[in-house]
Amino acid sequence: MKPPTLPVADLPFVDLPFVDLKAQQRRLGGRIRARIDAVLGHRQFILGPEVTELEAALARFTGAAHAIGVSSGTDALLIALMAEGIGAGAAVFMPAFGFAATAEVALALGAEPVFVDVEPQSFNIDAQDLERRIGAVLTAGRLTPAAVIAVDLFGLPADYAALDDVARRHRLLVLADAAQSFGGRIGEVPVGRLAPVTATSFYPSKPLGCYGDGGAIFTGDDDRAARMRSIRVHGQGADPSDIVRLGVNGRLDTLQAAILLAKLEVFAEELAAREALAALYDQGLKDVVTTPARIPGRQCAWAVYSILTDRRDQVRQALAGEGIPSMTYYRRPLHLQPAFERYGEGPGSLPISEGLCARILSLPMHPYMDRDTAGRIIDAVARALK
Ligand SMILES: Cc1ncc(COP(=O)(O)O)c(C=O)c1O
Repeated sequence: MKPPTLPVADLPFVDLPFVDLKAQQRRLGGRIRARIDAVLGHRQFILGPEVTELEAALARFTGAAHAIGVSSGTDALLIALMAEGIGAGAAVFMPAFGFAATAEVALALGAEPVFVDVEPQSFNIDAQDLERRIGAVLTAGRLTPAAVIAVDLFGLPADYAALDDVARRHRLLVLADAAQSFGGRIGEVPVGRLAPVTATSFYPSKPLGCYGDGGAIFTGDDDRAARMRSIRVHGQGADPSDIVRLGVNGRLDTLQAAILLAKLEVFAEELAAREALAALYDQGLKDVVTTPARIPGRQCAWAVYSILTDRRDQVRQALAGEGIPSMTYYRRPLHLQPAFERYGEGPGSLPISEGLCARILSLPMHPYMDRDTAGRIIDAVARALK
């Protein structure tokens, strides 16, 4: 009898992880355990001293006046929108090529997502298409444009200068979804200070990841920061027994903050190692597939290294056959997801996003990969496309 064909996701990945958390643990395990032990010692598991220490360290790292530790990247987006009073009747613009969280937070607040196409090279939201979609919303007259969520896809910061120009003319909040780009920068300005509000994620596989869920919000605005801190703890006022606004339970755990403090010590080095791996991939793959755009002045955090090829599924299968994991971020644009399609205009309405979903392929990316392994992956991609 013929053996059943395994779906790609079930093929055995022998020795080559997509993200190597074990290698990082070998390096940092002692420091992380010491940090965890300190928390077990003082037992302030909720908003303990490590959360305050981490917030100060994150503010120093980014230069942002305020860094607020929260329970996840999704909650960071939610709290940021809540702090602006965004709700029913508001249009929240976002790239169609991206992660579900952006659409889900808008809808959770009673607002509506409006999907915008992306730039074919950077994969980030296209400011010109944003302008067009704002025009369409204004003409329809049903919703009021309120915010744009710019997703720094795969770690590359979006074009904030162009977005800021559109946003100022239409009085929109620019919310940076930096879940994948923490550690990136434009010129000398780090992610965290590129937009009035920035949300990031510390999901374990992110450039700076904890051992569970976690996130942070950055802003330079004192009043906004105060509102977000209040929303993070059920809308509490100066006296915690007063509930002065609608809030959530959106706190970052002390244990996760402790783990992040240990990891933050080596984060700059890890970012440099990610960049070095990206450069190796660029060099080895530039004649074989479309490698990620390099935009002068913009430094990617390389959460993910993604190539474009018309024979994506064939490459993925061939890599799997050699024990090399790969991923497709994302196989379907948001406007064609069953949960969100009623807010979009169907197939063909966001052509760049739809085209990217058919061709994108993400390769293993982490700071602990050696040159031989990178070479093995490059050779395998080239072989698959011969
Ligand atoms: C672009 C983007 N936005 C938001 C999120 C949500 O972050 P979290 O998983 O921490 O809620 C993610 C995480 O996967 C993401 O990649």
